[in-house]
Amino acid sequence: MSLIREPGQKLFVVGLTGGIGCGKSTVADMFAKFGAGIIDTDVIAHRLTQSEGLAIPAIRAAFGNAYIKDDGALDRDKMRALIFSDAAAKLRLELILHPLILEQAKTQLQQLHSKSYIIIVVPLLPESPAFQQLVQRVLVVDCATDSQVDRVVGRSRMSEAEVRTVIAQQTPRAERLKLADDVIRNDAGMDSLAAQVAALHECYLANL
Ligand SMILES: Nc1ncnc2c1ncn2[C@@H]1O[C@H](COP(=O)(O)OP(=O)(O)OP(=O)(O)O)[C@@H](O)[C@H]1O
Ligand SMILES: [Mg+2]
Repeated sequence: MSLIREPGQKLFVVGLTGGIGCGKSTVADMFAKFGAGIIDTDVIAHRLTQSEGLAIPAIRAAFGNAYIKDDGALDRDKMRALIFSDAAAKLRLELILHPLILEQAKTQLQQLHSKSYIIIVVPLLPESPAFQQLVQRVLVVDCATDSQVDRVVGRSRMSEAEVRTVIAQQTPRAERLKLADDVIRNDAGMDSLAAQVAALHECYLANL
């Protein structure tokens, strides 16, 4: 079932956030199967930093040619290594990327006006008042820190120590949960996850 949206009616936008590896992308895929509009700010950030991406000139100006590969794309490995240990550099990169990500997300929102509701995946929602203003509700996907570590190590080449460092750099779990209107617990299996998404889908369809 999908609701008819009158012209000019405000979009119902849910901000989906959570720590690294908590299951944001998995949950977004489940909402997509129910027909929700999905915007993923990680995908936007990736596009902005590809060859000829909109963020490349500003990154080149701020960090120098050494951080741009021959094909004109951001050298992700090099930048990741830099911002891992240099908080000022991380902030400088974020000041370039975040306004561009917000602008692109707003453009995508306009293109999704026929959807009953929209899920926007924003890992940095707790740190971004601008994104908090854009959404009507905040949905946090939450799981135990040890599950985050297991899942990210299982899926990538990051070591346990690296994953724990990233978690320590992110907004603490308890603080993130304070922002939540809705919480999905992702400590059990996929069936439990799917059931929670199905229940929230019904609420969001009714714009609740
Ligand atoms: N309930 C679950 N049981 C088992 N594995 C899961 C569960 N939920 C997610 N995973 C797996 O854990 C990994 C991390 O999940 P996912 O990519 O959805 O997290 P994420 O929050 O999007 O991560 P990132 O912060 O890196 O974008 C994936 O490999 C996913 O398949
Ligand atoms: Mg993800």
